[in-house]
Amino acid sequence: MENLSYKGLDFVPYISREEIAIKVKELAKMITCDCQGKNPLFVCVLNGAFAFASDLFREVEMDAQITFIRLKSYIGTGSCGKVKVLSDFTEDITGRTIIIVEDIVDTGKTMKRLISDMEKLNPAEIKVASLFFKPESLQCDITIDYVGFNIPNKFIIGYGLDIDEMARNLPSIYILKSSD
Ligand code: IMP
Ligand code: MG
Repeated sequence: MENLSYKGLDFVPYISREEIAIKVKELAKMITCDCQGKNPLFVCVLNGAFAFASDLFREVEMDAQITFIRLKSYIGTGSCGKVKVLSDFTEDITGRTIIIVEDIVDTGKTMKRLISDMEKLNPAEIKVASLFFKPESLQCDITIDYVGFNIPNKFIIGYGLDIDEMARNLPSIYILKSSD
């Protein structure tokens, strides 16, 4: 794999498609074990989580459904990150086991907002699966039940993750090259 450049920024290979596939299978096994018989509803957070959700959902071995919510995060210069719902799901989630599927949890503001919105709809339980997590960036009190990779506080792209809507179709993950 070679280095890539987007928007004048240099990215280097970070996590291969093979490593991602192994991790997705591991997470799917855990979810299959924990949620067997619960008929969970997977809620894929668009756009970024489409690749992860598609692979994860096909690896779980139980009855389950999938739906989609489309969010846009606006992180201002201040500490207040605002999240806008562009397209909401229509399923009745009362009494159901929900598995929110995210590509990455950074400050946690998007996830915090999503969880609190969903709690109002009275599901039985809400679990969170995120392929990537930046523990050093977290600013919110949230629990991620299934984490694929803990990563440093650096920008990554590929496998659904974008830089200004570019690079989502890269099959592996690239990380912003350090300036040092
Ligand atoms: P939050 O700060 O946890 O609310 O994350 C908000 C959103 O920022 C995530 O859902 C991603 O769409 C995006 N994001 C955060 N870190 C990265 C990254 O390293 N690459 C691409 N998108 C990111
Ligand atoms: Mg996202």
